[in-house]
Amino acid sequence: MCGIVGYIGKKSVVPVILDSLQTLEYRGYDSAGLAFVDNDLLTVYKASGKLMNLRNQLPEKLFEKNGKSRYIGMGHTRWATHGAPTDQNAHPHVSCDGNIALIHNGIVENYGELREGLTQKGHQFHSKTDTECVVHLIEELSKSEPDMMKVLQQVSQRLVGAYALVILDKRHPDKLYGVRNHAPLVVGIGEDELLLGSDVVAVVEHTNKVAYLKDGEIVELSPQGFKVINFYGEPIDAKVETIASGQLIADKKGFKHFMLKEIHEQPDVIRSSLSGRLITPEEPIALFQSDAAQRLEQINRIFIVACGTSYHAGLVGKYFIEDLVRIPVEVEAAGEFRYRNPVIDDKTLVIAISQSGETADTLTAIRQSHDKGSPVIAITNREDSTIARESDWVLPVRAGLEVSVCATKSFTAQVIVLYLLGLYLAETRKALAAENLQEIKSELQRLPALVEHILHTPEPIQALAKKYGNSRDMIFIARGINFPAALEGALKLKEISYIHAEGYSASELKHGPIAMLDRSIPVVAVLTEGIVYDKMISNCQEAKARDAYVIAINSGPMPEDVKDTFEDVLMIPKTHELLSPILTSVPMQLLAYYIAEFLGKDVDQPRNLAKSVTVE
Ligand code: AGP
Repeated sequence: MCGIVGYIGKKSVVPVILDSLQTLEYRGYDSAGLAFVDNDLLTVYKASGKLMNLRNQLPEKLFEKNGKSRYIGMGHTRWATHGAPTDQNAHPHVSCDGNIALIHNGIVENYGELREGLTQKGHQFHSKTDTECVVHLIEELSKSEPDMMKVLQQVSQRLVGAYALVILDKRHPDKLYGVRNHAPLVVGIGEDELLLGSDVVAVVEHTNKVAYLKDGEIVELSPQGFKVINFYGEPIDAKVETIASGQLIADKKGFKHFMLKEIHEQPDVIRSSLSGRLITPEEPIALFQSDAAQRLEQINRIFIVACGTSYHAGLVGKYFIEDLVRIPVEVEAAGEFRYRNPVIDDKTLVIAISQSGETADTLTAIRQSHDKGSPVIAITNREDSTIARESDWVLPVRAGLEVSVCATKSFTAQVIVLYLLGLYLAETRKALAAENLQEIKSELQRLPALVEHILHTPEPIQALAKKYGNSRDMIFIARGINFPAALEGALKLKEISYIHAEGYSASELKHGPIAMLDRSIPVVAVLTEGIVYDKMISNCQEAKARDAYVIAINSGPMPEDVKDTFEDVLMIPKTHELLSPILTSVPMQLLAYYIAEFLGKDVDQPRNLAKSVTVE
């Protein structure tokens, strides 16, 4: 969602802010702005659209080295929640007296009531955002309280919702303030400089020393250092951590888009996810370094919560874990979980899956699970995230920085970690014979080479992209453990090509969706050798009988007499049926990629989407 950057130091502030905002670009945004103090003047620039539009507004003198007194400032990329993505609605927002500028990530839920009260007191609003009321509230409270840290404590008592705020007040021209409540904010501690960021990615160019603020904390940065207090004014000793910054630097490595690079990284991602955890098929899975074993023994049910692609990974996990461990597994979209009263207790293991580790709905689901006594495992790509820090155990997926908004390698890595967890539980509970476990483990170790095999021959997929790229709709069908892969294939296509796509269990076709079928709607069918192979062929024949073009992603021994059911067949290597979603997903990722590229879409930053969804 919104990207936040703050800087105080000896470098010329505008280039620093623009560079940092660029590192956050991948998260998705629709307008940008910045503010800095120069010779006691608060200056603000804002522009809708890409960062380049903001850059084009800025006078060249702001890029001169040794930019005089311009050493303090902040920048923002906005993902619109309230009010269209216009120049006026872009952040920073400024107080009526022109002294205070503010940027915000999150949602102020009681903005209507605050706005009304402040309007009655004479404040004039210039935007349609929820954010603007906060800067006016600060201005109002500052009239009777000169100490900004105290004002911000009062502000925190008045705001309802999620917010990370950064505030610049020209009456305190050597200070920058930050507030965190249910939206991430991190302090970067460099040599003679301090930064604020909504993600460490924004600060790693400058420093690998960071302090993660916690919910309910306020920070003041000044040339003397930084100090943190909580919303009650009590001083907090913020822990400074050293991060492996190299892993957080985005680089396309010669690929045209991050998405294509990330698809191609999958063999290595699988190796890395397995490394040290699955050593040989004969050895037990090594997954936890802590007290988990004893606690997990008492579990009689699993509940997986996640959103989007991570939710689809969770569905694959359900098929796998139930099959191996014979323990009931439920999977629910975190946004649904949080607004009902799920039946979970201290014997329910909650698994929260999140690439970013900051997804607001998933985070809330974790907190609610803890309230009901359930232990939580986080499966995440960001060990430094809030979700990781709030869970009882963390299983890092080790996919490396994923820049493309469209998740690919993180899905694969999440599924691999769920496989490892299923194997671990099956072993520790003696739920499956050793030889069956060893068979699955051996196949897991073969997966990187099998994915490489698929990646080596993209030409047939590129040809399909040209053939079907102008379709208005597309349907993805599968059965069994590949049903979630079909859902994921459809999600990939719609989010980057904007083609309407749906995933269905093939068995559900004749309960409604088949009514839509004709020559204009291609059907992508996933067929892997196993118990549903023949059933899938029958379902494909039903689609073909309605004149639909059926495209098979096939690893099975297709009988001669059914071959004419399929307009196109993409062959993929064979593996254990339970592991096949890893292989069937790759051609669907590539199909979505090449169609979006063929249509000239913004592959890595699709419209309306954000990489990290920090508001509900
Ligand atoms: C996937 O391509 C999406 N961009 C999206 O569905 C994503 O998976 C979802 O927002 C969840 O994000 P998380 O894994 O970071 O929690």
